Amino acid sequence: MQQELEQLESAALDELARVSELSQLEAWRVQYLGKKSALTAVLRSLSSLSSDERKVIGARANSVKESLQNSLATRKETLSLESLDESLGASAIDVTLPGRPLPHGRLHPTTQVMGEICSVFAGMGFQIIEGPEVERDYYNFEALNIPETHPARDMFATLWVDAREDRNARLLRTHTSPMQIRLMEQQKPPLRFVVPGRTYRYEATDATHEWMFHQVEGLAIDVDITLRDLKETLFEFCKKVFGRDTGVRFRCDYFPFVEPGGEVAIECVSCKGAGCRLCGGTGWLEILGCGMVHPDVLSRCGIDPSVHSGFAFGMGVERVSILRHGIDDIRHFYSDDFRFLRQF
Ligand code: DAH
Repeated sequence: MQQELEQLESAALDELARVSELSQLEAWRVQYLGKKSALTAVLRSLSSLSSDERKVIGARANSVKESLQNSLATRKETLSLESLDESLGASAIDVTLPGRPLPHGRLHPTTQVMGEICSVFAGMGFQIIEGPEVERDYYNFEALNIPETHPARDMFATLWVDAREDRNARLLRTHTSPMQIRLMEQQKPPLRFVVPGRTYRYEATDATHEWMFHQVEGLAIDVDITLRDLKETLFEFCKKVFGRDTGVRFRCDYFPFVEPGGEVAIECVSCKGAGCRLCGGTGWLEILGCGMVHPDVLSRCGIDPSVHSGFAFGMGVERVSILRHGIDDIRHFYSDDFRFLRQF
């Protein structure tokens, strides 16, 4: 019997070492420690032995049982750890790895340039305000000294919302200048505003024309504002946006709502003034229209031109962007081509 126990123990332990899955351990336990196992049979038969034999065999059988139970517990722990290792290995996260880059959007080049223009003027004390894109004939034309029969209407091919014969007709604003009127009607001087926004013209599109584009309008009204303030402000703006070394030119021009009217040009960014295709051989690139607000416009808005004066200006945002980046076709801006947009 003694020998039988020895064999039983070593067979059981051999077998246990070969068990490689947690799920197989229960079958092993039933076989070697269960009610119908050889070991249990030995323990049951102890009562039929003589007391001397019972002491020896009983002690040995119990120590075998204990050894098998301990070995089972140890094996169970080992296998559990192994399987935990495996599942961790499959799903482990290496926290030292760099993060995956997230695709992120960016501001449209027009939005970027418009923001830049506005922040230069904000730095000079101008407030930023927006206005309606659907305007009345009165604000877009009449109040700006462009009555129905005025030839200057030809400068602005208009997209009408209502029949144009209607005096109160709505249209898509052809420039941001109507906001000059709205601001002067609503607030008393001193006024200092820039107005960024969309504008529309009934235009066939080509490399230099779009039917929708952006402008930034400026208006400053106070006592004692002179042409010198206008030039100073716009020259400083040009130097900030195009660089201190860029030449700036001021010339007279005509717009019905200003007197005198002017035009600001910068030295050609491509040929530096020598003359090339971009500047049409002149060496200069026009970037904005401006002038001293016409006395009739001031009066119409309830501002006394003998007390107050002011200047106004308006520029095309895409034009500034085109000159800054050397873009060859205005249609690139709104054709949604990522190859173009990703460069900004
Ligand atoms: N509104 C004019 C245009 O779209 C530009 C302009 C010229 C605006 C002179 C002004 C100005 O404020 O004083 O062509």
